[in-house]
Amino acid sequence: MDRTSRVVSAEEMARQREFGAQVKALYERRGRVPMAYTQTFGCQQNEADTELIRGMLAEMGFGFCTDIDQADIVIINTCAIREHAEDRVYGNVGELSHAKKKNPALVTVLCGCMAQQQHVADRIKNSYPYVDIVFGTHALPRFPQILFECLSRKKRVFDLEGDEKGAILEGVTPVRKQGHRAWLSIMYGCNNFCSYCVVPYVRGRERSRTPDVILEEFRSLVAQGYKDITLLGQNVNSYGSDLDGACDFPTLLEMINDVPGEFWVRFMTSHPKDASTRLFDVMAKCEKVCASIHLPVQAGSDRVLREMNRRYTAEKYLSLVEYARSVMPDITMTSDIIVGFPGETNEEFQETVDLLEKVRFDSLFTFIFSPRRGTKAWDMPDPMSREDKQKNFDRLLEVQNRISKEKNDEYVGRRVRVLVGEEENEKSYNNEYTKQSRTEGFKLVYLRGAEGLEGRFVDAIIERSSTWALFGSVADGESN
Ligand code: 5AD
Ligand code: SF4
Repeated sequence: MDRTSRVVSAEEMARQREFGAQVKALYERRGRVPMAYTQTFGCQQNEADTELIRGMLAEMGFGFCTDIDQADIVIINTCAIREHAEDRVYGNVGELSHAKKKNPALVTVLCGCMAQQQHVADRIKNSYPYVDIVFGTHALPRFPQILFECLSRKKRVFDLEGDEKGAILEGVTPVRKQGHRAWLSIMYGCNNFCSYCVVPYVRGRERSRTPDVILEEFRSLVAQGYKDITLLGQNVNSYGSDLDGACDFPTLLEMINDVPGEFWVRFMTSHPKDASTRLFDVMAKCEKVCASIHLPVQAGSDRVLREMNRRYTAEKYLSLVEYARSVMPDITMTSDIIVGFPGETNEEFQETVDLLEKVRFDSLFTFIFSPRRGTKAWDMPDPMSREDKQKNFDRLLEVQNRISKEKNDEYVGRRVRVLVGEEENEKSYNNEYTKQSRTEGFKLVYLRGAEGLEGRFVDAIIERSSTWALFGSVADGESN
């Protein structure tokens, strides 16, 4: 395999820039700066893709607006992970008909994971005539061309073409949100084919960006003042396996840790089958790498894990957790759980609850199984009723909420380092704690006395806790 990742060729980039220039010229003839409105569903990877799309739009001369009535183009970047996510997108697409009535020149675009699926594109084509463009994840580098075709020929464009081992788009500067937190994609796609999951079908195979482009982007983020940077990939632990052993994930973390500047770096998502003791050793040793990990376990029963094609056992998972805590006693851990995988019995579900009690995660993302077309689990017999799954789901939340509260209680009275954010505390309770901040473990801390400290690392004394947050004040000697 190649030592360097396959990137979109210089010729193709130049061709796309040419299409971009033509789009720009089309709008210039209309005599004003065109505005783009973007909306993102789903995971951080999708957020990062939207930032790339915004980068492409900026190159084509677009400005950005937060009011759809001001927009010349609306882009909805979609998620296919569960049916609920798709239903929400269909709801929002429906609303585009009003915007289009008000402004017939509006260009409406659906892209991303959901749009990569043929049955979705067909449904949009037949039932949502006011959607102008549908393009999948593989077509992303061709976006300028797609937009030009739509505008110049005044026709709908559907583009799901592309290689699932598709070349990586480099050289576009993402337009990120202001603030102190940023995403940085280090790889795309997934090779794991967990039997419930649509991601490998809609995002293609794993492709790693090279360490040099990642480091360059990382340095530029630090220079721009970003202080909490999350490295993204569906399975960061297999980073570099397509780079011919040139660099693996722990090595990448070591290199990033050596970048000068004051920052935290974190990452997601980690697959337990590829998480090594070396990963945890490196995390423990690198002071800028947060002692925090999102390590989705999905289920506690070995039979269910096998059916899910996860390729680890509950015991293996527990031994990873134990090792991580032996080298980082304060590490925070979060996880994903699927309740009601086809054929999961109540006894097997109980094994998930038992695992939760053993691990004691800081918090959890819990989902009821949602059948996804094209995956192996789509056809599996699924005898348990929705009501029974919901009961198990509710019980899981109850157990986790108790654990989360107990874990948060342990922080009361402690002095912890936090990064102060821009966001205000919008909750009506505990109103004197006006600022939001995050710990190294990504725990939310509402702070008092933090005005003017946005974007700074400060020590906080934790005074109270709830299931979802901590409350504290800035420690003496930390204010301006
Ligand atoms: N149904 C329910 N949850 C799912 N996830 C992925 N696919 C499905 C599905 N078909 C969950 C997994 C994964 C998280 C991102 O979403 O827990 O880790
Ligand atoms: Fe989906 Fe499994 Fe890949 Fe995660 S590792 S994206 S759950 S197939």
